[in-house]
Amino acid sequence: MRRAIYPGSFDPVTNGHLDIIQRGCKLFDEIIVAVLINPEKTAFFSIEERCDILSEVLKTIDRGDCHVLVESFAGLMVQYAAEREANAIVRGIRAISDYEYELQMALMNRRLRPSLETVFMMPAEEYSYVSSRLVKEVFQLGARVDGLVPPIVEQRMREKIK
Ligand code: PNS
Repeated sequence: MRRAIYPGSFDPVTNGHLDIIQRGCKLFDEIIVAVLINPEKTAFFSIEERCDILSEVLKTIDRGDCHVLVESFAGLMVQYAAEREANAIVRGIRAISDYEYELQMALMNRRLRPSLETVFMMPAEEYSYVSSRLVKEVFQLGARVDGLVPPIVEQRMREKIK
């Protein structure tokens, strides 16, 4: 059983995240999409909302034979990965600018838990500029975000600011 953790903030989940999950489904039997509980970061959606939205949108994508589930976690990611008996961490890399931070995290995680491999995946080019941060920024300034996030996400974002 090849089980991977796909950790992140997912505030909100974007089409880029879903693209990575679909690619990961070709490599793993199970992917746990793990939402970090980070009380220090001011979020748009609560942890419960993010998990709920993720569970909804995951039903709409092609997962092949891969079992995809959503959980939240707090504390060290490698600790959580060990508890869940995961073999790998999946992370998406969009541009070279992501690489430095991702490399640091991957090497730190390797130091903390050498048996856990980090697998980097590239999303489709059309999502190479899509980030949760920019989605929130342009949305809050009145722009449409269709094509960048699933329709359910845009709808939930509208409901949130009503
Ligand atoms: O979507 P993000 O915010 O880029 O994801 C970052 C995340 C959640 C992968 C990272 O912050 C993380 O793993 N945090 C958990 C705490 C931890 O293990 N920190 C050490 C990382 S080397």
